[in-house]
Amino acid sequence: MRRVPPWPAWFEHPPQAEPGRVLVVLTGAGISAESGLSTFRDKGGLWEKYSIYEVATPEAWIKNPQLVLDFYNERRAQLAEVQPNPAHHLLRELEKHFLVIILTQNVDDLHERAGSTYILHLHGELTKARSTVDENLIYEIGYAPIRLGDTCERGSQLRPHVVWFGEEVPAYTFAAKWVMQADILVVIGSSLQVYPAAGLLDEAQRARRKILIDPKPTLTQGVEVIAAPASEGVHRLTEILLS
Ligand code: APR
Repeated sequence: MRRVPPWPAWFEHPPQAEPGRVLVVLTGAGISAESGLSTFRDKGGLWEKYSIYEVATPEAWIKNPQLVLDFYNERRAQLAEVQPNPAHHLLRELEKHFLVIILTQNVDDLHERAGSTYILHLHGELTKARSTVDENLIYEIGYAPIRLGDTCERGSQLRPHVVWFGEEVPAYTFAAKWVMQADILVVIGSSLQVYPAAGLLDEAQRARRKILIDPKPTLTQGVEVIAAPASEGVHRLTEILLS
């Protein structure tokens, strides 16, 4: 188990962009739907099958850690079986034309596997575990399960490196700084129900375009909507941005 820093390496050396070329993309579960991963709030989504309060809160962890581990172990095992889809790949391609900053609410690693360079996970990562006594002790675990009895170097139980409901989103401030610098802000596949991530849109003061890609958009005011699944939507986005 390899220890990893709490922040991506690119935090130390923020990238520079030519004026007008900063493309910030906020992604949600919908971008991974075509890869075969369930969203949360769609019909048949994860929160229809599981109770948030049983598997995704600090209280759930105290009450029944085995159930919480089972839930995330299942998500991680599923992740090992799926692949990035054209939407993830096309975002990587857009790096030829823009500085693309991906702010993702997803805990999957499909942006990484598609090769995107600048990725920030707002809600943590399935492929990492962390200590329950020191949030800075984070370990790469790949797609292996976390079991009761697996411990950090200080001897305490490991937990999934995900942000549960009721917990802070430490990456928010950094994400907000990038949204403020965005020339173009694109949101893909998010119901925008969960704060503070959904509040990032309000930080986009400078963006000349705000575009939402979602087959069932929950927001229509103040954004250009591409009502399509992610891969078709990002294809259309690419045509619009490069025309
Ligand atoms: N392409 C694009 N969008 C899609 C697709 C698709 N193929 N299929 C569904 N969607 C859209 C839905 O219309 C919906 O608007 O994806 C969105 C999914 O919304 P949610 O399930 O609420 O997912 P998300 O917004 O990412 O949830 C935010 O909630 O439970 C937490 O921590 C979890 O990060 C997650 C957060």
